[in-house]
Amino acid sequence: MEQNAAYARRHGVRAVLTVNEYLTEPTSLVCAELGLPGNDPHLAHAARDKVAMARVLAGAGVRIPCTRLARGDGELHDVLRDRRVRFPCVIKPAGGAGSAGVTALAEAAPAADAARSIHETEGSEGGPGVIVQAYAAGTEYSVESVTQNGTTTHLALTRKATTSGPCRVETGHSLPVCLPPATEAAIHREVSTAIRAVGVRNGASHTEVVIDPAGRCTVIEIAARLGAGHIGILLQHALGIDIFTALLDVALGRPAALTPTARSHATVRFITNPHTGRLTSLSRLPEQGPGVPFVPWRAAVGDLVHAATANTDRLGCFVVTGSDADEVEERADALARQIQIQIQVQVEPLPAAGGPGQVRPASTAAIAR
Ligand SMILES: Nc1ncnc2c1ncn2[C@@H]1O[C@H](COP(=O)(O)OP(=O)(O)O)[C@@H](O)[C@H]1O
Ligand SMILES: [Mg+2]
Repeated sequence: MEQNAAYARRHGVRAVLTVNEYLTEPTSLVCAELGLPGNDPHLAHAARDKVAMARVLAGAGVRIPCTRLARGDGELHDVLRDRRVRFPCVIKPAGGAGSAGVTALAEAAPAADAARSIHETEGSEGGPGVIVQAYAAGTEYSVESVTQNGTTTHLALTRKATTSGPCRVETGHSLPVCLPPATEAAIHREVSTAIRAVGVRNGASHTEVVIDPAGRCTVIEIAARLGAGHIGILLQHALGIDIFTALLDVALGRPAALTPTARSHATVRFITNPHTGRLTSLSRLPEQGPGVPFVPWRAAVGDLVHAATANTDRLGCFVVTGSDADEVEERADALARQIQIQIQVQVEPLPAAGGPGQVRPASTAAIAR
């Protein structure tokens, strides 16, 4: 920390900011040390450590799922018997991100296996362990916000799609979403309280919420950074907000332009596949062009790819934009259905690089819901 601050002083750095979840706490400490606009350094850990997050959010009156820390198998089994948690529930690492290690459990039977497969995490204020959370049923959204000098602007509500089943990999984001005004007001109230509770004063935040059928808002988690998964690009295309310039302005202490200049719609679809194996062919990917501004692809033919259990397993994605939300969604679904992926599923342990291996061919259509 001192080294970073000393470096910044030596080079006359006038702004420090991050879009990386793991760097939000050190960034707030460096900003405080240098007297630059940033977040509360005493609370920044609460936007990273889900144990601290649950404590400060509940303390501020934010509606969150019942959250318990379990250190080791014994405690986990006790927690899973807690009547406030019940099944289905969600087990996750206290300091995780990108859905890694997040397991939704439908019933007690797989709980022991899940417990064994989940690595305990260090660094949580409750000590090493995992957290167990009551399952919040409903529709999942995120709220993209920017706070400057303690005043928050909610830029957009984003609908999230994830895989179903035990692993919840994010498969798509669409924005802006319009909900009934009373529901939106309830969401903004909870999210504004959450933003204050984790000490976001100058910078972006991304708050994940679930809305139940009665319109009640439960906060799943908050991150003191811009939403990942190309949400910045969606904001730019749908609302005409240059979010990266705006965040630099916030970090520099200059007024940030956060008013939409466009009224469009944007969606991103992430492509996952259900098998682990060698990618043997990939065709009919969407092409960049009108209404498809961005097609970043991660996986290439020949790569070993993994059945999706975390966001990092996704093969690639594409963004679709346009003025009509329904048309944009239909076009994105149609483009996703066209993608052809072939995987050779490994039935033997993987050979050393370049060596022979036994493979069984499998072909799979893209999953992009
Ligand atoms: N308590 C919960 N109730 C319902 N779904 C949940 C809950 N916790 C997590 N999830 C699902 O798992 C996903 C990943 O969990 P999250 O807490 O956001 O972890 P990460 O920090 O890895 O993103 C969420 O986007 C959501 O789909
Ligand atoms: Mg999340």
